[in-house]
Amino acid sequence: MTRTAPQLLRLAALFLLALMILPFALYALVTGLSGLVPDDAPRGRFFTPGAPLLNGAVFVHMMAGGLLSLLVFLQLVPGIRLRWPLVHRLTGRLLIAAALITGAGGLIFIAGRGTIGGPPMNAGFALYGALMILAACEVLRHAHAGRYDRHRRWALRLFVLAIGSWLYRVHYGIWDMLGYEAGMATDFRSSFDLVQNVAFYLPYLIVLELWMRRRPVTVQRAISTQTRR
Ligand code: HEM
Repeated sequence: MTRTAPQLLRLAALFLLALMILPFALYALVTGLSGLVPDDAPRGRFFTPGAPLLNGAVFVHMMAGGLLSLLVFLQLVPGIRLRWPLVHRLTGRLLIAAALITGAGGLIFIAGRGTIGGPPMNAGFALYGALMILAACEVLRHAHAGRYDRHRRWALRLFVLAIGSWLYRVHYGIWDMLGYEAGMATDFRSSFDLVQNVAFYLPYLIVLELWMRRRPVTVQRAISTQTRR
């Protein structure tokens, strides 16, 4: 398969982004795993004593989120979709499961304990979780029905949501690097924190919607025929 220069550039950009996300994905996997291992040592602020279900939900959420952040890149590589549709389908199912677990685990934590930032952060993150669950369900539903253009649109939305958690940290990093201490508080209720409650996914989703309106998202024919069951 020969690739054009724009295709190679897109692939390189995807690879670079995956590399940048790797440390956060590994951090999420390790933090989730260490929270689940029975241990007498303190397990950080996400551990709630005497609440095994809540702890299970939040730590499995981190592990599933870490997995999701990495798998989502594999799904967008056209060579894999076209050459090995079975791999695309299998990793796709794993990714959907990871997205559902990540979303549900986060929602359970919000309902059971609430976030550090209180009601505004609860609301922003609950919407984030609900959108992730919706996107995961829609990706699967349209793939099963053979509606591959819609499937791809929802897959792109899921991609934006999947990298949102990393973008959340990147925003704080940039804000901090610029030397703006204002707007950040340890209780996550200052002005920048409040904007952040939705700024890591909503603007990106809006840009994606505008982009998809201008450029119809089409799926190469080979996928439609090869992955149809
Ligand atoms: C790729 C997706 C995700 C990954 C990798 C991920 C990972 C993590 C990690 C590592 C933490 C611990 C915080 C830290 O140490 O900085 C965390 C906390 C949290 N996550 Fe996620 N997460 C993801 C998606 C979501 C989604 C979709 C929701 C929405 C329901 C969510 C809700 C939460 C909440 C409520 C907390 C606790 C916030 C607090 O009180 O500080 N996460 N997540």
